[in-house]
Amino acid sequence: MHKITILNGNEFIYKPDNSKILEDGSFTWKAPSNIALVKYWGKRDVQLPQNPSISFTLSSCFTETTLEFKKREEPAEVSKPDGSTDFEQTLIQKVFKWDLFLDGERKPEFNKKMGGFMTRIGKLVSFISDYDFIIKTHNSFPHSSGIASSASGMAALALCIMSMEKALNPLMSDDFFYQKASLLARLGSGSAARSIKGELVVWGEHSEIKESTDLYGVEFPHNVHENFKNYQDTILLVDKGEKVVSSTVGHNLMHGHPFAEKRFEQANDNLSKLSEILQNGDLKAFVNLVESEALTLHAMMMTSNPYFILMKPNTLQIIDSIWKFREQTGSNVCFTLDAGANVHVLFPEKEKELVNDFITRELVQFCQKNEYICDSVGLGAKQM
Ligand code: DP6
Repeated sequence: MHKITILNGNEFIYKPDNSKILEDGSFTWKAPSNIALVKYWGKRDVQLPQNPSISFTLSSCFTETTLEFKKREEPAEVSKPDGSTDFEQTLIQKVFKWDLFLDGERKPEFNKKMGGFMTRIGKLVSFISDYDFIIKTHNSFPHSSGIASSASGMAALALCIMSMEKALNPLMSDDFFYQKASLLARLGSGSAARSIKGELVVWGEHSEIKESTDLYGVEFPHNVHENFKNYQDTILLVDKGEKVVSSTVGHNLMHGHPFAEKRFEQANDNLSKLSEILQNGDLKAFVNLVESEALTLHAMMMTSNPYFILMKPNTLQIIDSIWKFREQTGSNVCFTLDAGANVHVLFPEKEKELVNDFITRELVQFCQKNEYICDSVGLGAKQM
């Protein structure tokens, strides 16, 4: 099948004909974090995944962003080098003007990431260079919790930008709105493509998932078994520090990785299997597949060159305790990991009491300052 890529997928480029006039205003969106069950690890071209992934959308972990905009009096002006050491960044900030505040504090350290994002989305939403922006953002989870805010953060911002496009072009369909929001979010951070909708989102083309595409996330199209409704995710904060290796660097290490091709094939097969499991409610098979995915992700990190380890001793202590608890009780609790040391403890709603008791009794001791976050599957982003 022919793949549409961002380079020839012109249907998402903003067309200014018949646009309404939009002088100033603001939009606010709340977008959730997500936790992948089949992992995205490895990308090509402009933020396209090497394999399809699927995630649970979360509920309590979210970013709320307000985008204030004001039309510029003068159009964007691109001037010659001004002697700045970071000319490219200066240039970007002349074409796209923004000021970013996290919890009321100006954050110039995010300018580079924002600049990269604006440049990538610039062709698709050309109107953004006509405005000055103030971005006010807040995460429901603490900044230094080791929980990546890039997925929810990029999704919330992408949705605000789409609200602007919708104000300029009110005839836009809902499908177009959400697909393009996911596509823009993806250009900020791959996993952000899965932070627009709920409860389960697939990103990346897969033969058994109708409408799936590398360009944006789509809702899991099949009926999900009762066992997976309101699934619980308690996030154990094992290490709240900065990651030693960023996801972007990790993804790049999949180029030339000795196991890359096999891994991409396996992820594809695992998505087929998980699709069946989600429909038939087989919790034991779910546990097996999800834990295997988490450990494979970390195995890829340990076998890349340079190699690295993001798990900490307490990550392993928790995994060991979960395995023992499962053996003793027959519970369906399991773990997954993202690119860090924190552990996501996943369990069915009907085991809530049993597992919460286990977590407070045995697992909390392995968390930094005994801190953890109770979350569950959510319904997707919301306009405020
Ligand atoms: C391990 O989406 O953070 O969480 O596209 O470079 O921003 P970039 O990477 P990012 O990678 C997340 C990888 C993961 C697995 C997953 O969420 O699927």
